[in-house]
This record gives sequence, structure tokens and C-alpha cells, in this order.
Amino acid sequence: MTADVDPVSSKQKASVGIQVHSRSEKATGRQAGTDAWWRHSVIYQIYPRSFQDTNDDGIGDLRGIVDRLDYLTWLGVDAIWISPIFCSPMADFGYDISDYRNIDPRFGTLEDFDHLLAEAHRRGLRVLLDYVPNHTSDRHPWFLAARSARDDPHRDMYIWRDPAPDGGPPNNWQSDFGGDAWQWDEATEQYYYHAYLKEQPDLNWRNPLVRKEMYDVLHFWLDRGVDGFRVDVMWHLIKDDLFRDNPPNPDWTEAMPPHKKVLQIYSADRPEVHDVVSEMRGVLAEYGADRLLIGEIYLPLERLVAYYGRDLRGAHLPFNFHLITAPWEARHIERQIDEYEAALPEGGWPNWVLSNHDKPRIAARVGREQARVAAMMLLTLRGTPTVYYGDEIGMSNVAVPPGNVRDPFERQVPGRGFGRDPQRTPMQWDSTTNAGFSAGIPWLPIASDAADVNVEAQSSDPRSMLSLYRKLLSFRRRSDALTIGRYTKVHASKCVLAYLRETESERYLVALNLGPQPAEMTVPGPCRRVLDTSGGGAGQRIQETLRLAGNEGVVAEMID
Ligand code: GLC
Ligand code: CA
Repeated sequence: MTADVDPVSSKQKASVGIQVHSRSEKATGRQAGTDAWWRHSVIYQIYPRSFQDTNDDGIGDLRGIVDRLDYLTWLGVDAIWISPIFCSPMADFGYDISDYRNIDPRFGTLEDFDHLLAEAHRRGLRVLLDYVPNHTSDRHPWFLAARSARDDPHRDMYIWRDPAPDGGPPNNWQSDFGGDAWQWDEATEQYYYHAYLKEQPDLNWRNPLVRKEMYDVLHFWLDRGVDGFRVDVMWHLIKDDLFRDNPPNPDWTEAMPPHKKVLQIYSADRPEVHDVVSEMRGVLAEYGADRLLIGEIYLPLERLVAYYGRDLRGAHLPFNFHLITAPWEARHIERQIDEYEAALPEGGWPNWVLSNHDKPRIAARVGREQARVAAMMLLTLRGTPTVYYGDEIGMSNVAVPPGNVRDPFERQVPGRGFGRDPQRTPMQWDSTTNAGFSAGIPWLPIASDAADVNVEAQSSDPRSMLSLYRKLLSFRRRSDALTIGRYTKVHASKCVLAYLRETESERYLVALNLGPQPAEMTVPGPCRRVLDTSGGGAGQRIQETLRLAGNEGVVAEMID
């Protein structure tokens, strides 16, 4: 963007090309703000290294994403969130950024990015970037300067402490990737803090210079026209000013990652973090009400919802990962939905996530058949859903042999099942070499079942997972009840989870059998099957008893 462009009109121009969803046009009688695009949208997460490679280096790139935009509109999603694409030494695959204002050459160039953005917008797809404010790379010029001398003006942009009296680390804070969160710096004789790898030093968000610089980064991308951000580890941004020790976690077991031995009550989720989040929101608000702020936050519900902020001036969508972390059990999930709905602040909009690049895929957690039920749940619950790339074809985790491990978490805490490579393997497009992902050597192995589990094979099979996703997405798109309608729990027992989604004019019953055995429930009134995971009985009328096969989900329209 050139300096002589009037900033206001260029900001407006940046959003031209978005075809506003037709449903928002017919909105009448809705409360102000309730028609925000992201309330009736579905977000699709792209892990760019693994989506589509176009230059045969085995790593996905921006041009690859452009090549697949038509697929995404055909699928029926509304927005893409792209995991980090900025210059990075790749110690944590892009979550260690050395230049926030440029594209890593492995992914392409700024021109490629502008092209991607324009092509996405031309198709009515919004683009969300991954904003990583908690830490930089240790190769970022700020950190290189900060570690050069104690009196360097950049020093306080990071978190430096003297050793404890015994010479050890200043307190007991642990890295989320295992081991101590403090790294001794020989040259300047102080420790610096890193919540993740030692190559990812934490920024000091109590320093006004950090805030200014990092808000400028938001401006840089907003000026280019991006539609919003997913903010990495939002709850980590501010740490205790007194650097108190975290208390031990009485519930820790060997099955849990080592950093969970302590409760991170002083190293994360500090009250002052909400000021930072609302400042970020303020930056987005300068560009109108349409730029979306999502926060990555792993916290219990009551602390999670605080991230909507005072007077809803925090994140629009604090990511709700409770379907990822919950046991897959109907009563448990039902309780969780109730608690979430009850905890939401007035006007706060819910959201749901089934998988992401950090956690095992849904198909790996519940099995391929049950993953169909999970898809129906994700796309019929009240709230904005986020779909992880590949879940729409039922991709599962792919075992990565120890010699080929790429993920730093697995390298630091090996053999315990925490590694994230298995859920990051290349997208399976077709049955050609490397599933159509790359003509080079893919950076992670391709799933062994890719010849069958791929987009091409599934697109012509009406019973495939992909066809189910498309049906659900298109059904949802046409239904106000399923997007912005009320949620009401319906009594069901054992493995069945059931609820109504309704507006004044539409009422749907959703009944999900979370187990492999047949089950039944009494319906709240006569209804007709309109969609099911098995692709079988659409049209069938149900008078009193709905019979569900094992691993079956049904959407039925209430008729009275
Ligand atoms: C977030 C990212 C994860 C990354 C970590 C550190 O949790 O999702 O992939 O490793 O932050 O940046
Ligand atoms: Ca490439």
C-alpha cells in the first residue's frame, strides 16, 4: 500500500469483493450486531505447510492455497484461518517469527499473499491470519538486540531475571514443551523466560514499546485487507508482576504433559491480560465492525468466557476447545454445552472446535464412524464452527516413525504421545503420488490409506464423509435456526445427545448417537428426518420414537 492512498478509502477498498452472505441481507428485526458475518460463518483452518505444494519442495505454499480456493467454496466454508506464514526459522513451524511483516520464502512472497487475499475475497471467502504476540523467534532483531547488552534499549521488550539466590532459575515456571521455562544467557548473566521453546522468548507485554510495535503489526495486515486474526496463546500474554511460583497441581498424573505438574496461575491468565486483548480489539475496531478477533485459549469455561471482555470488548470468539478436551460421552458433553451456554456473557457469541494442529484429530479420538456424528454436532450446535483441514474427508492421525519426527514437542518429550506431527500430515487430494499434495518429498508422511481417503474419491460418493460435510454445510447455510437459532436441550438417555435449534419459523431436532450400539429416544413432537449421517432415511416421519443406528446422527424437522 502506498503512502499517498487515503487510509480510510483504502480500508474500505480492502473489504470490497466480499459478497455479503445473502442471509444477512434479508435480516430484519435482528438486534444490532447480531448479523455480524462471523456469527453465521464456518471457519476452515489451513495448516499451510500441509495443504498444497506448488514448487515441489515438499512444503505447502500460498500459491497452493490459491489453487484450492475453488475447492473451499465448493465445500461451503466462509472463512479461512491460515496458521503462521511469516518469516521464521521454523523451530516451532512458524510459531517462532523473525519478521512479522513478511512472508517466509518457503510459503511465498507478499505479492503471493496479496494475490491470495484478492482471490479469496473475489470468491466471498474471508481470510484470517495467525497473530503470534506472546513470543518472537530468538532470531528476531529485537531479541538479538535485547540479548546483546543489559542496557540495550530492546532489553526490556523481553522478560529477564536474575538467578535465584542458589544460582538456579528465578522461579518454578515450566515450559509447555517440557523442562524449565528459564534460559540462562551466558553473555549478559541473566535468565530469559520462554513459555515454549528457548527459541521462542516471551515478549514483555507490560512494556508500552512492545504494545506499540505489536499493534503496528496488526495495522500492517489490516491495511492489506485481512479480515481478522486468530491470536496465538492469548491467555499467556501477561505474567505475574511478582513472578511468584506456580502451585503444584494435585491432579497431575503421568499421562499429562510435564508442565501440568504445576497450575499455571501466575505465569498465565493474569487479570491484566484483558486490557491487552481489548486494546487489540480496539485496533481492529478502527477498521469497522467486521474484523474478527479470535483467541486461542485453553482454560476452564468460567475463565475462558472472561475473554469476551468487559462489555464484550475483548475477543469476539475466545476459542472453545471443550469438545477437544472432553471425554466423548453424551451426558458429559450435554453438561458442557449447558455450562458453556450459561456462562456466556449477554450478547457473547459461542463457538466450537473439534480438531486443530495441536491436538489429535477427531477421527483418531473417536473413530471414523463416530467422526461423522461429531461433524453433525459441530455443524449444528449454536456457535461458529471451526473445521480443521482434512477432517472433512475423515483424515486420521498418521503415525510418524521416530526417525522422521519434526515436532519440537515430541523431540523434547518423546514417546509420550504429545507429538503433533500425526495431525499435521499433508492433505489428501487424490490417489496420485503423494495424494496430489506434492511432486517432491512431503515434509511429513502421507497417510497410508490416502488412495481411498481423499477429496477426489469422496466427492463422487454420496455417502462419503466429504458429502456429509457438504450437505451439513449447505443445510446450515440455508437455515437461520441452525446458525443463529436458539439451542434447547432435549431429554435423551445413555449415548444419545439431543437438542432443538429453532427460530420463530423453523424448528429442528438434532439427535446424535455417540455410541456404536443402536439407541432410541422419544421425540418432543412429530417430526421428519431431513438429514442423517448414514445418508439413508431422509423424508421418514417420526411420530414418537426415533431409532438411531450405532454411530448415527439425525436432523429432523419438527412438524406441527
Ligand atoms: C499455540 C500454537 C502451537 C504453538 C504454540 C506456541 O498453542 O497453536 O502450535 O506451538 O502456540 O506458539
Ligand atoms: Ca512449496
